[in-house]
Amino acid sequence: MLTPRQETVTPLRHPFHVDDDGVNRPPGPDKHPYYGHFAATGSGVVPVVRQVNGESVSALLICRYADVKAVLRRQDVFSRAAATTADAIDVTGTMLGMDGAEHARVRGTVKDLFTRPAVARLRGRVEAEAAAQLAALLARGNRADLLRDFAIPFTLHVICDLLGLPHQDWARFRRWGDLFLADSELTRDEAARSTQEMGAYLWEQLENRRGCPAGDMLTRIAGTTADQPVDVQIKLPISLVVGGWETAANSIATFVHVLRTRPYRGYGSGWEYLVDHPEKLDSAINELERLHSISNADDLPRRVLADVKLPSGVRLTAGDVVIPSHDAANRDPRVFPDPERMDFDRDPNPHLSFGYGPHYCVGAHLGALEVRTAIGLLLRELPGLRLAVPADEVRWKAGHAVLGPQELPVEW
Ligand code: HEM
Repeated sequence: MLTPRQETVTPLRHPFHVDDDGVNRPPGPDKHPYYGHFAATGSGVVPVVRQVNGESVSALLICRYADVKAVLRRQDVFSRAAATTADAIDVTGTMLGMDGAEHARVRGTVKDLFTRPAVARLRGRVEAEAAAQLAALLARGNRADLLRDFAIPFTLHVICDLLGLPHQDWARFRRWGDLFLADSELTRDEAARSTQEMGAYLWEQLENRRGCPAGDMLTRIAGTTADQPVDVQIKLPISLVVGGWETAANSIATFVHVLRTRPYRGYGSGWEYLVDHPEKLDSAINELERLHSISNADDLPRRVLADVKLPSGVRLTAGDVVIPSHDAANRDPRVFPDPERMDFDRDPNPHLSFGYGPHYCVGAHLGALEVRTAIGLLLRELPGLRLAVPADEVRWKAGHAVLGPQELPVEW
């Protein structure tokens, strides 16, 4: 078998939609055709080059499902902490920038709050927030921006409420979170400033809880992380807020876009099909998560710590930077027959859009509940919901780690 370096002479620029000015501009909700191509053909390990902090970073994009899982599972060989210099967004000090015992300790301080049973107990709060945001949407008349006027306030309020942040400050996290996830060279300074501002604010909140416990998630974090460096203490709530609202909000908007604009099984759109087949909601969203993950750019590289052979047989060398691609793995025909076909009956559908292994999304149950609650509610209460502009006029976020529309004008 060829080594990845022999297979492609010139490394591809990564992310695949990056323009000459270094900004990643995905044209829509569909992933670049390279993902399916590289998952199905060749070695599945593709040399790429990305610009980080003005430097060219060479990396190997891992595209086959079994290989991606192997990279995500083995923290002992594939280190996040040793790869943060290759990150487009700065996640040092958060769980996503740690390995091994340090990672387990930080994650361990909150993980029981996000288990399946713990999240099931939050269902009533999540449904009530979705209903409140729907009422606010309807009060706007018969046209609105589904992202700004429904999806963002819904998911932002859920996580801010869980943490126990004061209501009047929630909106500040919208701007901070957006800047934190900006991943272009042009926005790097703004991203760093937003982290500083968020950090200073959250430190004050944690200090307040230490003097005066409030029975919320921040009180728990203030207590369980008190012996850890300040940077780690403040970055834990940052990762929960930033990881918590933008991911779910953009999934909601992207999935509504796709459902409204693609025909499905004799219906004019997937949306109309689901209005008639509400029992398919869960499996339909699972399939949308597979095809339209919120990842814009395969972030989160790992560094290889020791020579290793992947399940496909490709050999990697200590020091290599690898980027396990959820989007390519989700299109591996060995696991997902006819992978580009949207199939709400796909079973099994073990997609990797929430990651896998030790860094598996800690908020996956909550995110999944939010997305299903929001789309289920919209299907029931606004079955006639549709885009208010032609689908190709919707603009997609540029230079950002999360895939989603800049706005989603809808009418009903
Ligand atoms: C639809 C919603 C969501 C999606 C698609 C999503 C996706 C992801 C992905 C792909 C990862 C990285 C996995 C890896 O590196 O292998 C991740 C990690 C993470 N997510 Fe989510 N996420 C969502 C919702 C949430 C929510 C609601 C929260 C907060 C409560 C959250 C907090 C986190 C955190 C803290 C991590 C880091 C975990 C670790 O490093 O151990 N996410 N998420």
